Amino acid sequence: MSQTIDDTTAGGADRSRSGAGPGTGPAEKYGDALADVYDLMYPWAEGPVIAQRLAGLVPPGSRALELGIGTGRVAIPAARAGLRVHGVEGSAKMLDILARHDREGVITTTHGDFTDTVVEPAAFDLVYVVCNTLFMLTSADAQIAALTVGRRQLAPGGILVVEAYDPSPFHTLERPIVQARHLAADTLMIDTVSCDPVEQSVVEIHTLIRPGTVDTFVEVSNYRWPRELDALARLAGLRLVTREGGWQGEPFVQGSPRHVSIYRAAEEPAPGAP
Ligand SMILES: C[S@@+](CC[C@H](N)C(=O)[O-])C[C@H]1O[C@@H](n2cnc3c(N)ncnc32)[C@H](O)[C@@H]1O
Repeated sequence: MSQTIDDTTAGGADRSRSGAGPGTGPAEKYGDALADVYDLMYPWAEGPVIAQRLAGLVPPGSRALELGIGTGRVAIPAARAGLRVHGVEGSAKMLDILARHDREGVITTTHGDFTDTVVEPAAFDLVYVVCNTLFMLTSADAQIAALTVGRRQLAPGGILVVEAYDPSPFHTLERPIVQARHLAADTLMIDTVSCDPVEQSVVEIHTLIRPGTVDTFVEVSNYRWPRELDALARLAGLRLVTREGGWQGEPFVQGSPRHVSIYRAAEEPAPGAP
């Protein structure tokens, strides 16, 4: 059952909260474990590039909805690029950090699960889910639910954008790989990455080493091949418009590490159609 949230705080810094509350779901656990280091894991340098591209896809001043808004890495630059951004986010800790970053109070948010949260008025020109966040939903049903709820919130002519990694390098992993990330002078993250190609799941064990502490967090993503994602999108009532290989209009080709896929409601005519 979906929950409906009134977007009465547009243009302000207030935060609405879904009735059922996200509680202790995977997003809450992700935020609890990683919110403190999230901005070090995903530096903000790329945010304005993504924001410019998203803003260029819709008319100036459009309403945009980000699913899994996190700390505002993309949303805050998107608001600066002229979009009116609302975000749904399951982790209260991530939202607290976003509120600290959003000094101008340009982003409105809902604390909820984006597989069943509808923000009213549900008429967004752009709905987007980036940074592989769709794959954080660990079943096809949950991914279809997120796409369906996203599609329901599109205004006529609106688009839904998904950014996700291309699974190819993971799918063929025969044994776990280990990567070390130097996040700050005193903070090291060691990622052990393994793949189950039958389940199409990537398991990342993040080991976070800080002075005097070692913490471990397991992140599971359930990946989809690009064409498979299109099939899930069809089940959600969406149709692929175009797929690019990055945020600067690069073509999506063999070896592209990720794709940016743009969908429209299936019942709408293709752009340029008579
Ligand atoms: C990889 S981060 C991306 C954050 C932000 N979009 C960005 O690009 O920096 C994924 C975010 O989605 C949130 N999330 C994951 N599953 C969710 C769900 N089902 N409902 C709401 N938020 C969710 C996580 O808590 C996290 O903040």
